[in-house]
This record gives sequence, C-alpha cells and structure tokens, in this order.
Amino acid sequence: MGGCCSLIRRKKNDQQFNSKFKVIDGRRFQQLDDSNYVLPNDSDEDERLDIQHIILKNTFNGNFSAPVDQLLRSGARVLDVGCGSGVWTLDLAKEYPNSHFVGIDITLAGVMGETPSNVEFIEYNVLDGLPFNSNSFDYVFARALISVYTRAQWTELAIPEYVRVTKPGGWVELMELGLPRDGNDINIQRLGNAWISIAESKGLVVETNFEVRGFIEQSGFFTNINHETQHVPIGPKGDKHAELGIRCFRDLWCGLKVPYMAVMQVTGEHYDAIVEAAVHSLIHKGTTWEFTRAWGQKKG
Ligand SMILES: C[S@@+](CC[C@H](N)C(=O)[O-])C[C@H]1O[C@@H](n2cnc3c(N)ncnc32)[C@H](O)[C@@H]1O
Repeated sequence: MGGCCSLIRRKKNDQQFNSKFKVIDGRRFQQLDDSNYVLPNDSDEDERLDIQHIILKNTFNGNFSAPVDQLLRSGARVLDVGCGSGVWTLDLAKEYPNSHFVGIDITLAGVMGETPSNVEFIEYNVLDGLPFNSNSFDYVFARALISVYTRAQWTELAIPEYVRVTKPGGWVELMELGLPRDGNDINIQRLGNAWISIAESKGLVVETNFEVRGFIEQSGFFTNINHETQHVPIGPKGDKHAELGIRCFRDLWCGLKVPYMAVMQVTGEHYDAIVEAAVHSLIHKGTTWEFTRAWGQKKG
C-alpha cells in the first residue's frame, strides 16, 4: 500500500480540456461559476468511486435500502443523481433488466463503453435543477453529493427537485459518507480539519451522513421515512474491504491535494508526507468509516 499522489496513473481523456474544467497539477477540476465541488473529475477519481462502490455495496449487503426491490423487478424508472462513474446505475441495470435507469452528472467522461439498452446517461449541471418532467421517476437515488450542494441548496434545491421528479408513492434515497473517525492520529485529524475549513467557508454541510435523515424528514414531503447507518472498520481489524478502504482514503486525499494544500498552507512535498503518515496510521492502527442511507416515500 505504498506511494502517494505522484504515483497515480492518468488516462488520455483527462488531458482533454473543456471550458467546464481546468487541469491543476495533473488533476481535472470543475470551474463552473456556481460550483463548490472540490474533488477532481477525472479517470483516477472514477477509479476511486468504483472502489468505494464495492465497499458500500458490501457494507450494506446491497445497493439500496429503500423497499424498492419488487418495484425494480416489475419495471420502474430510476434516477441516479450525480452518478459519477455510473457504477451504481450499471450495477442495478444488470440486476433489474425490466427497469429503466437514468444517470445524470456534470461529466460522463468515466462512463466508458457501450451503454446497456435500459440505461441512459445525461450530462447536466444539477445546480440548474433536474431536466426531467414532474412525477416521472419511481425511485430517485443520490449518493456522496456532500460537496455538490451547500446546506441551503440541499433544502431549497436538491430535495424539492428530487421530490418534484418523483411520482406520488415513489421513493427517494440519499446516501452519504462520514469522515474517518480516529480521534488520536494527528495527520488524519489535519486532513479532516482541512475539509472542515473548506466546507465552512463554502457553506457546505461538514458531515452530510449525520443530516440526510433530517433533510428528508424536515422537508415534509415524505412518509414511511427510515434510515440505516453502518460503521466499517478500515485497516488491520477488517476484511479485504478494510484494505480497499485504505486505498480509497489514500486516493481521496491525493485527489484533494490541490484544495487541501491551499487551506493547510503546506508545500506539495509536505502534503504528500502528511498523506503518507495518515495512510501508515490507517494500515497499522485503522479507523472507522460511517455511512448512512435515509429514504422516504413521496406523499400521494
Ligand atoms: C463523490 S462523486 C459520487 C458519485 C456517485 N454518486 C457515487 O456514489 O459513486 C460526486 C459526483 O457529483 C458530480 N457533480 C458535482 N457537481 C455536479 C453538478 N453541479 N452537476 C452534476 N453533477 C455534479 C461529480 O461529477 C461526481 O461524479
């Protein structure tokens, strides 16, 4: 599990420049006027999302928690907001061939190859709302969008839009991820504090996993609200997924090098050393990662 940010491989399509993006230090970032998104949008990040998906699916023993299995079996219209590499959409589309899946994201560079006939991907800025008719989906899923919406946008834009496009009686499910819970590792704490500074300065929610149930409840649009929280050991005490978790954090911290260096006021070399020490701590001492899913049924 060696190496840090400089060892990441890069694919050709990341070099393509597009006015929505800028390349800094070899990573491709959004440069939309209205975006607060801090993670890179490139193939390395898509790879990290694919690994994260494996951990999340294993932890929850499946891809969703809302009671939609029967609905998906019989044939439903499903929306995946901020679908990233498309991994969740494609996984479900395979499992539920009678359902139709739509993935929407600001960039779909990571959605490679032929799309199955029951899948559609749409490139769109969700801060402009959702480009779909009202009451047009049976199930709307949104995962790991912590840096996409500010607190105000979660309650005034995201939830109202998800509700608008969901049919009465349909389901909305949010899934968010916490920060590593460690407590006594100084380097993990420094990286966590960098996120807190960025989130607070941009009006983002620091830990959306603690708040997703509240977003759904307080909106007043839902009934049959529920949630599920899981804690995953990362490091020596876990299974093979705990090891994947270490890679996931390393790649996450490497992806956040540019914005984190700025708030931590450290050089690139110093940042790499902090990440290396944090990864060393994950390998030898481990930590816990918390995930929460919250879901509700749109009132009729
Ligand atoms: C952390 S990733 C999560 C991806 C996916 N939901 C998953 O769990 O694997 C967040 C995604 O939100 C997308 N995103 C960020 N800002 C966006 C915007 N304004 N409009 C649409 N998508 C956006 C990013 O491109 C990225 O794919």
